[in-house]
Amino acid sequence: MSSSLHQLFIFIIIISFTTTTITRVNSIPVPFPETLKQSLIHNPKPTKPSSPSLPVTTHYFPQILDHFTFTPNSSKLFSQKYLLNSTFWPSSSSPIFVYTGNEGDIEWFTSNTGFMFDIAPTFNALLVFIEHRFYGESLPFGNDSYTSTDTLGYLTSTQALADYAALIKSLKHNLSAQAAPVVVFGGSYGGMLAAWFRLKYPHIAMGALASSAPILQFDKIVPWSSFYDAVSQDYKDESMNCFEVIKESWDVLMQVAATKNGLLQLSKTFKSCKKLQSVYSVRDWLWTAFVYTAMVDYPTPANFMASLPAYPVKQMCRIIDGFPKGTNKLDKVFAAASVYYNYSGDVKCFDFEGSSDPHGLNGWGWQACTEMVMPMNCSNESMFPPSSYDYKQTEASCYFKYGVQPRPHWITTEYGGNRIEKVLKRFGSNIIFSNGLRDPWSRGGVLKNISPSIIALVTEKGAHHVDFRTATKDDPKWLIEQRENEIKIIKQWIDQYYKDL
Ligand SMILES: *[C@@H]1O[C@H](CO)[C@@H](O)[C@H](O)[C@H]1NC(C)=O
Ligand SMILES: *[C@@H]1O[C@H](CO)[C@@H](O)[C@H](O)[C@H]1NC(C)=O
Ligand SMILES: *[C@@H]1O[C@H](CO)[C@@H](O)[C@H](O)[C@H]1NC(C)=O
Ligand SMILES: *[C@@H]1O[C@H](CO)[C@@H](O)[C@H](O)[C@H]1NC(C)=O
Ligand SMILES: *[C@@H]1O[C@H](CO)[C@@H](O)[C@H](O)[C@H]1NC(C)=O
Ligand SMILES: *[C@@H]1O[C@H](CO)[C@@H](O)[C@H](O)[C@H]1NC(C)=O
Ligand SMILES: *[C@@H]1O[C@H](CO)[C@@H](O)[C@H](O)[C@H]1NC(C)=O
Repeated sequence: MSSSLHQLFIFIIIISFTTTTITRVNSIPVPFPETLKQSLIHNPKPTKPSSPSLPVTTHYFPQILDHFTFTPNSSKLFSQKYLLNSTFWPSSSSPIFVYTGNEGDIEWFTSNTGFMFDIAPTFNALLVFIEHRFYGESLPFGNDSYTSTDTLGYLTSTQALADYAALIKSLKHNLSAQAAPVVVFGGSYGGMLAAWFRLKYPHIAMGALASSAPILQFDKIVPWSSFYDAVSQDYKDESMNCFEVIKESWDVLMQVAATKNGLLQLSKTFKSCKKLQSVYSVRDWLWTAFVYTAMVDYPTPANFMASLPAYPVKQMCRIIDGFPKGTNKLDKVFAAASVYYNYSGDVKCFDFEGSSDPHGLNGWGWQACTEMVMPMNCSNESMFPPSSYDYKQTEASCYFKYGVQPRPHWITTEYGGNRIEKVLKRFGSNIIFSNGLRDPWSRGGVLKNISPSIIALVTEKGAHHVDFRTATKDDPKWLIEQRENEIKIIKQWIDQYYKDL
C-alpha cells in the first residue's frame, strides 16, 4: 500500500454556529457553520483515494434502520458497507480489529489508518472497517437520505454504535469467530465512537484505541476558547511575529474590503479566479488554512486534504517571518495560506466561492445541529478575531437549516463526560486515549490516565491522530514510541483475554 494512501483523516467539525447572515449583522467574525467544511470546498485538488487500490474486500450488511423502537418503519433494512482484510488472520479465534467509521466514505478513513495494516501481522488480526450510516454508500434512503428530518432523524451516534454492534455480532457468527477478541479503533469523531462503543458495548469490544477523540468538547467541560487558543499557541510557538501578523491581518482584510474597489484589489492579492463577491469568503479561506494546518501539523510530509510538507505550521511561519519589513500583511498571510492550498505549486488561481464535497461529508451539518453541539468561542488572546458563543444563534440557525432543535446536553447525558476521571475509574477499562498537543482537538481530549487500564498517551509534538498514519522511515522517536506503547497495551489486553477464556 503506497504511503500516499495512508494519510490521516481529520475530524471535520462544523461548529454549529450562527448563520453568516446573523453574524454579519453583528459584525462579529466567528467560525461559521460551514467554515471548516470549506477546506474541502477550497481545496483545489481533493485527494479522494480510489477504492480499488485499497487492500480490502467490500461487503454489505442488511442493517436495521431503527434499533431503538418497534414502530412500523423501524425494521426497514438498508445496506451498510464494510471492508475486510483477512490476510493476516490465521484462525477464527485470532483478534478482530474494527475501525468505527466516522463522518465520510469508509474508504477515506481506511486509506488513512495505515497503522491498523502495519500492526495486523503482529496481532494476526482480521481488519474490519465499517461505514457510518448516512455517509458514503451507506445511505438508508438512497439519494433521498438528506431530504427531510423524517429521514435524517435516523442519523445519530447511538444508532451508529448499535449498527456496529449488530454488524460485528453477525460477522463473528458468519465466521464462526465468537471467541475472537474485538478491539475497536477510531480517530477524531471515529475515536469518540470507539471509546463510547467500549463503554456501551463491553460485551462486544474488549478494548478501544481512541485517537484524538475530543469527548470532552461538550457543554462546559472544557473552556470554550480552548480550541482556538490551541491553534494560536501552535503559531506562537513558532514565532511571536507569525502569531501577530495573522492576528492583525483580519482587520487589514476588513479595512481593504471597505475601500472603493476593495474587493477587486483583494481578488488580485488573493489570486482569485473570479472577482470576489464577498470578503467573508477570503476570511473563511484564510481561517480554514490556519486551523487545518494546525490540526495536521505532522512531522513528515502528508497529503490528506492537501499536500503539505513536514511541520507545515513551521513552514507557514518561516514564510511570514521571511518577508522584508513593511510588506503588506495580506501578502504575508496569502503566502502562508498558499502552503495549504498550493504546496504542489500547480494551482493557477483560487476558487473562493465554488463548492464540492468529495468525501461525502454532508451529513455532519445535521449531526452538529442535533447531538454534536460543541460550543466554541475566540478569546481576545487568540490570533482570531474575538467572538462569543451564543447558543440561541446556533438554535436559530439549525432550525432555519434543518427545521430541527439541537439537544446540546444529550451527549453528556448519554455518554457522560463531566467528572469523567471519577466515573470511569469506577467502572470503565481497556481504553487508550491518544492525543498530540499540537492538535487543537487535544484540548477536548482525555489527557491524564484515569485508571491502570484507561490510559492517556500524550505526545507534545503530535498532531491530529498522527499515530494512525502508516509508519515511515522518517518518523520521529516520540511517534515510534507512542505506537509501541499502544501495541504493548493492546497486547496486554489480548493476552489477558485469552488467559481468562
Ligand atoms: C491486506 O493488506 C495487506 C497489507 O496492506 C495486503 O498485502 C494484502 O493484499 C491485503 N489483503 C487483501 C485481501 O486485500
Ligand atoms: C413509513 O414508510 C412509509 C413508506 O416509506 C412512509 O410513507 C411513511 O410516512 C413512514 N411512516 C413513518 C411514521 O415514518
Ligand atoms: C443517486 O445520485 C447519484 C449521483 O447523483 C446517481 O449517480 C445515482 O444514479 C442516484 N441513484 C438513484 C437510485 O437515483
Ligand atoms: C452473515 O450472513 C448472513 C446470511 O448469509 C447475511 O445476511 C449477513 O449479511 C452476513 N453478515 C455480515 C456482517 O456480512
Ligand atoms: C502556486 O504556486 C506556483 C509555484 O510557486 C506559483 O507559480 C503560482 O502562482 C501559485 N498559484 C497561485 C494561485 O498563487
Ligand atoms: C481581553 O480580555 C481580558 C480579560 O478576558 C480583558 O481584561 C482585556 O481588556 C481584553 N482586551 C481587549 C483588547 O479587549
Ligand atoms: C468564551 O467562553 C468562556 C466559557 O468557557 C467564557 O468565560 C468567555 O467569556 C467567552 N469568551 C468570549 C469572548 O465570549
